[in-house]
Amino acid sequence: MKLASWLKSNGISARDFAARIGTTEATISRLKNARAQPSFELAEKILEATAGAVTPNDFLKRTSSADATPSGDTSGLRVLLIIAGGIAAYKSLDLIRRLRERDTQVRVVITRAGQAFVTPLSVGAIAGTAPYTDLFDPRTEFDVGHIRLARDNDVVVVAPATADLMAKLAHGHADDLATAVLLATNSPVLLAPAMNPQMWAHPATQRNAQRLTDDGAVLVGPNEGEMAEVNEAGVGRMAEVPEILAAVERVAKPFGSKVLAGKHVIITSGPTHEPIDPVRYIANRSSGKQGHAIAQAAARSGARVTLVTGPVDIPDPSGVATIHVESAEDMLEAVTSALPADIAIFAAAVADWRTQKKVAQKMKKQADTKKMKLTLVQNPDILKTVAKGSDRPEFVIGFAAETENVIKAAKAKRRAKGCDWLVANDVGHARGVMGGDVNAVHLVTETGVEDWPEMGKHKVAERLIRRIADHLATDKETA
Ligand code: CTP
Repeated sequence: MKLASWLKSNGISARDFAARIGTTEATISRLKNARAQPSFELAEKILEATAGAVTPNDFLKRTSSADATPSGDTSGLRVLLIIAGGIAAYKSLDLIRRLRERDTQVRVVITRAGQAFVTPLSVGAIAGTAPYTDLFDPRTEFDVGHIRLARDNDVVVVAPATADLMAKLAHGHADDLATAVLLATNSPVLLAPAMNPQMWAHPATQRNAQRLTDDGAVLVGPNEGEMAEVNEAGVGRMAEVPEILAAVERVAKPFGSKVLAGKHVIITSGPTHEPIDPVRYIANRSSGKQGHAIAQAAARSGARVTLVTGPVDIPDPSGVATIHVESAEDMLEAVTSALPADIAIFAAAVADWRTQKKVAQKMKKQADTKKMKLTLVQNPDILKTVAKGSDRPEFVIGFAAETENVIKAAKAKRRAKGCDWLVANDVGHARGVMGGDVNAVHLVTETGVEDWPEMGKHKVAERLIRRIADHLATDKETA
C-alpha cells in the first residue's frame, strides 16, 4: 500500500507520522509522493509504525523505481563538487558521504557564500581532505592551482547551484575559485539548482539555465516541494542525493583523457579449451567477463581494440574487433598476427597444459583397465612471448590468477613475465571471482601495489583503462 493512501485512510498527518518514526515532515512528504528512496532503516520504521500495512519491500521497490535510474554507482569516478551558498548546502554533506561510500574520489570547492552554510571544517572531515576555498589561496594556487583543480575530474558537480552562480557561469565570469574552475574545466558539468521558486521562475534565471544547457551543462532538478523557509513551496528544491548520484553516474565522462584515442589495444579474454579428443577438452572456469569488460572500456575510451577470446557464453563487446579461438596455440597465433599494438592486456585464463598427442577419434573406454593416463605438455606463454618479443607493445599488462600468497606471487610473476603492470586477483573457490560479476584486485606496478576494493568487473575495467590513460598522459608530460 502507498504511504500516502495509508496515512489518508488512517487520518494521520505527515507531521504526526514524522514525529512517530523520528524523521522530518519534509521527508514524509517526499516519501508520500514516492519521490525519494527511503533507507532500509526508515522503511523498517514505517513498516513498524503502520503495523505492516506498508511493506518495506514494496515501498523500496516503488520508490526506487520512481527514482532516477541508473543506480548511482559512481565507484571509481573522480568528482569535483562545488558547494555554492544556499540552504540546501547541508545536503551536500550527505552527497559527499554517499560518494565516498561508493569509492568515489571527491574534492570540494566551497564558495564564500557557501561557507555561510557549511564550514570548511565539516566538509573536510566528511570528504577526508580539506576543501578549496579561495582563488588566491597560496596553497590552492601554487600547490594545485585552479587549472589543475579543473582537470583530472570525470565530472564537476555544482550542488547547490544558486541563481547567482548560474548567472555568473552563463556569462563566463571567473572572479572566484568556483567560477574559474567551471570556466577552465574540460569535464562535464552537472548543476543541481536550488533556490526560492520565484528566483527559479524569473525569466533571467530561466534564460541562464537555458544558456548553460546549450553550453553543454546538465541540470538535475530542481524539484517541486516545500522549501526550507516556512510556507514556501514550488519548484526550487535541490534534487535529492540519490537523484544527484544517478545523474553523476550518467553524466561522468567515461574516461579522463583522450590519450587512448586511436591507439591499438590487444586484449585476451576467457579460457582456452585444449582438446583431449574430438569431444572432450581441458578447460577452466573463466567466463571472459573481466577481459570483455576491459575491451569494452578500452573501445569507449576511443582505442582501436582487438579482442582475442577463448570460448565464452557472453556476447562480443560492441565496437571491438573480436577474434574467437579455442586453444592456447590458436590464441598465440591470433595475438601475434594482430601485432603491432600500443598496449596489450592479457586477461585470458590460458590453460597451461595441452595433451601431447592429437587424437582424431573419440577415445573409448578400455574394458580391462580402470585407469587412464594423459600426457600433457606445456602451452606457450602468450604474455611472456609478446612481452619479451621484438614487437613488444609500449605497455603490457598481465593478470595473475592466484589462490594463495596473492601479492608475493603477483610481484614475482610481473618480473618473470616481463610486463609493466600486473593485475592480481584471488581466484580461490570461495571468492567466486571466476564466473562471477565482481572482482577485488591488486594492481602491481613498477612502484608498488594498489589494493582496489571489491567492485563490479565493469568498474574494474573502467578504472584500469582510466589508470592506463592517466599513466600514459603523465609519461607524455614528463617526456
Ligand atoms: N598467460 C599467457 N599464456 C599462458 C599462461 C598465462 O598469456 N600460457 C598469461 C595470462 O593471461 C595472465 C598471466 O599470463 O595474464 C598469468 O597467468 P596465470 O594463469 O596467473 O599464471 P601462469 O603463468 O599460468 O602461472 P601459474 O599457473 O603457475 O600461476
